[in-house]
Amino acid sequence: MAHFILKFLYLCVPKMETTPEHIHPIFDQLLQRADKEKLLRQRSKVIWMTGLSGSGKSTVAKGLESALHERGFLAQVLDGDNIRTGINNNLGFSEEDRLENIRRIAEVSKLFLNCGIITINSFVSPTIAIRETAKNIIGADDFLEVYINASLEVCEQRDVKGLYAKARKGEIKDFTGIDAPFEAPIQPHAEIRTDQQPVEGSVEQLLKYLLPIIELK
Ligand code: ADX
Repeated sequence: MAHFILKFLYLCVPKMETTPEHIHPIFDQLLQRADKEKLLRQRSKVIWMTGLSGSGKSTVAKGLESALHERGFLAQVLDGDNIRTGINNNLGFSEEDRLENIRRIAEVSKLFLNCGIITINSFVSPTIAIRETAKNIIGADDFLEVYINASLEVCEQRDVKGLYAKARKGEIKDFTGIDAPFEAPIQPHAEIRTDQQPVEGSVEQLLKYLLPIIELK
């Protein structure tokens, strides 16, 4: 009985919401991004790869990470399938969940950015609005949108994970490109046609674009 009374009282008491006025961030007291960039001898950026499932985002991301590593840059791949097994393992593929997926990963990328680390993000991030959200969180100057472009036909033919076949049979709902939209970027910083060149060519193309941006002279 006492337990129920206590529970009732608990439910009646107004919750102490954490409001912004009770939060006191100490960003300005910490070492700054420029200090970290100097230590790492690089400029940090977020390379935001968008494209259909099977377009080659993860493959290009892995190749780029290795190429940067070999040249002495500290970079980290953040990949949709990986992130969805951890911090975002409670999210699905509804519009709302995808937006939350991208919002969280943009916040995580911002932490890396302020740590001087280059992140290579590989997320379908299917709509212009979703990518705008990411850009607004990260900051337009540091958000480099890269369109990993392979046609739906090619991605479906590759069907590396067998997901397109399942989506066509209706076993997966809201699959990007099949029964959920993909909006190509209008003016990406770079566009990589993975259906017109080998992986090495795609990595090389991206590297050529990126090196002048991340080199700290
Ligand atoms: S996003 O749309 O929210 O940006 P994210 O990049 O994290 O997607 O995850 C996409 C990956 O999840 C795909 O590469 C694919 O392996 C898998 N996946 C599972 N279901 C779906 C779906 N309905 N639509 C797209 N990808 C899916």
